[in-house]
Amino acid sequence: MEERSSYLKFFRVVVLFLLGLRTSSAFCVVGSTDEQPLSKIAMHKVTLGLRESVTIRASPVVLGLQGEDTEWVTVNIVNPDPSEDDWVAVFSPANFNASTCSPVNDEDQTPYLCSSPIKYKYANSSRTYTKTGKASLKFQLINQRADFSFALFSGGLSNPKLVAESNFISFANPKAPLYPRLAQGKSWNEMTVTWTSGYSIDEAVPFVEWGKGETQTQSPAGTLTIDQNSMCGSPARTVGWRDPGFIHTSFLINLWPNSVYTYRIGHVLSNGSYVWSKSYSFKSSPYPGQDSLQRVIVFGDMGKAERDGSNEYSDYQPGALNTTDQLIKDLKNIDIVFHIGDLSYANGYISQWDQFTSQVEPIASTVPYMVASGNHERDWPNSGSFYENMDSGGECGVLAETMFYFPAENRAKFWYSTDYGMFHFCIADSEHDWREGTEQYKFIEHCLASADRRKQPWLIFAAHRVLGYSSNSWYAQEGSFEEPMGRESLQKLWQKYRVDIAFYGHVHNYERTCPIYQNQCVNSDKSHYSGTVKGTIHVVVGGGGSHLSEFTTAIPNWSIYRDYDWGFVKLTAFNRSSLLFEYKKSRDGKVHDSFTISREYKDVLACVHDSCEPTTLAS
Ligand SMILES: *[C@@H]1O[C@H](CO)[C@@H](O)[C@H](O)[C@H]1NC(C)=O
Ligand SMILES: *[C@@H]1O[C@H](CO)[C@@H](O)[C@H](O)[C@H]1NC(C)=O
Ligand SMILES: *[C@@H]1O[C@H](CO)[C@@H](O)[C@H](O)[C@H]1NC(C)=O
Ligand SMILES: *[C@@H]1O[C@H](CO)[C@@H](O)[C@H](O)[C@H]1NC(C)=O
Ligand SMILES: *[C@@H]1O[C@H](CO)[C@@H](O)[C@H](O)[C@H]1NC(C)=O
Ligand SMILES: *[C@@H]1O[C@H](CO)[C@@H](O)[C@H](O)[C@H]1NC(C)=O
Ligand SMILES: [Fe+2]
Repeated sequence: MEERSSYLKFFRVVVLFLLGLRTSSAFCVVGSTDEQPLSKIAMHKVTLGLRESVTIRASPVVLGLQGEDTEWVTVNIVNPDPSEDDWVAVFSPANFNASTCSPVNDEDQTPYLCSSPIKYKYANSSRTYTKTGKASLKFQLINQRADFSFALFSGGLSNPKLVAESNFISFANPKAPLYPRLAQGKSWNEMTVTWTSGYSIDEAVPFVEWGKGETQTQSPAGTLTIDQNSMCGSPARTVGWRDPGFIHTSFLINLWPNSVYTYRIGHVLSNGSYVWSKSYSFKSSPYPGQDSLQRVIVFGDMGKAERDGSNEYSDYQPGALNTTDQLIKDLKNIDIVFHIGDLSYANGYISQWDQFTSQVEPIASTVPYMVASGNHERDWPNSGSFYENMDSGGECGVLAETMFYFPAENRAKFWYSTDYGMFHFCIADSEHDWREGTEQYKFIEHCLASADRRKQPWLIFAAHRVLGYSSNSWYAQEGSFEEPMGRESLQKLWQKYRVDIAFYGHVHNYERTCPIYQNQCVNSDKSHYSGTVKGTIHVVVGGGGSHLSEFTTAIPNWSIYRDYDWGFVKLTAFNRSSLLFEYKKSRDGKVHDSFTISREYKDVLACVHDSCEPTTLAS
């Protein structure tokens, strides 16, 4: 039996390894840094060993009495028999007894406990614990629509034995509407507000109260929810499942351009009383083509981390909080944000989406937070994703497509266009086929073609995986310097429609190319482009937070700047003829690479290699 199960395990490892190769899961680093911390807990091995002599108490018992959505709690432990690998799990809902959930049809997933904790800490993070058996741990909790309890386990993460359970604690209103996130709607004069609450539509009617100055109006919101059966596999469908609550979206329409609006979220209960969120404000989008100072942030692969140090998250997405904090610090100088895939890295541990939306709330409630889909949102075997790996942990796109609004025609096909003044953005979905002849290819061509370059000179393409150029070591080993089949069919579109900059994530570092076409630099300038640029500049900006990706040692001749660090890009359009590009590090917020483009409309029109239709000599 023992032998058989270790053989099975070995077999599974081999299969996963082969799967990984076949599906080009390029960044499977061996070791702990590339693993969702919650997946390190061997949930199926949990045993019960409750001991009377061990106590664990949490306080305060009621959180958010002043309406807060985030609170610090203290957990005190007394254990006469402490051990170095004792750890404390935070459960929500508080009742985590497996007898309350139905068994799941998967040999690995018949746990004593039915759901994974939302986070954990080693008891020895309280210094004297192993000597005295006494620990006092601080946890930061966010309102996640359910109560909380804390449990002490011995045996480390790999052989967890439940030793003690705490009292239950709860937010005063666990259902409170929270974590508003803005996104551009389908037209320029529409802003969408998406938020999460515990109120079903039978219980309360969701809406947004908003306006410019004194006059406030109310707009209704739609409500979506997700059930466990819509998850594609484990852990999302099993131990990682947690009710994501109700996701509401309201469409604020007929906005005046470039105007400041205030808003707050409300729910009317059936007895007529109101529940309100805090008040927020945003600035509406300029009219497409309208000229004003316009500032755009782009990054990928940020993920999340816990400010209380839980979960060793600092090893999983070490740069996430620095990036978040730099953006918050500069928020008044930012108009719109693009997070181009690999958003929360929940990987099937659904609780993490609340924590991610909470982390980005200061940004996303103030400026449109536009997202793209990455492998960690979408990929799952036999689910229609272009790559057949398990990177989404069974979410198969459902969480990302519901938690965030984006102006796609069909949110399961994660591609869309959006305008911001002098910018036109075409956001592609690298987890679905983009090659010539596909639906997405048609969309990309149509999107690029629909920018009127006289009014919208700054044409930007973005996708999660590197469809253009990267000298990351894995792509270099492949010899392709891109995702297989990445630019093959797209490069003629970028050239024909004169895309200025193409952005990618997935590779966790920063790299900028020369203006390039078919592998050749077509412009020898490095920091100031004036007149016709002649090719597209490709930028990898996947250093939003996740562990870094190595470059290959040889530097390709098209690679102008590489940085093995966390950071993000800021684009500033001063007017139709002047664009500033800056790469900033997340650790200091300072500019470490930059260039400018200065040109006029005639420079955009000028014919360069493969960019113009044939002309006729007839007059
Ligand atoms: C606490 O315990 C963990 C797991 O056994 C260990 O890796 C870590 O080094 C310990 N930390 C301290 C501060 O003793
Ligand atoms: C879980 O529930 C079962 C059955 O109701 C009970 O026997 C068991 O003691 C409970 N375990 C815990 C840890 O509460
Ligand atoms: C309406 O119901 C809510 C929730 O049950 C309660 O907290 C509130 O006091 C009630 N308001 C009135 C006016 O009865
Ligand atoms: C850069 O490298 C490419 C591919 O190796 C080669 O075709 C091209 O001529 C080189 N360009 C320059 C300017 O060296
Ligand atoms: C555009 O902005 C740049 C940078 O501020 C400035 O130097 C230039 O004069 C402006 N051009 C026009 C046409 O306004
Ligand atoms: C985050 O920023 C701080 C302050 O600059 C720096 O000390 C720390 O190393 C940064 N962390 C990472 C992972 O870059
Ligand atoms: Fe990725």
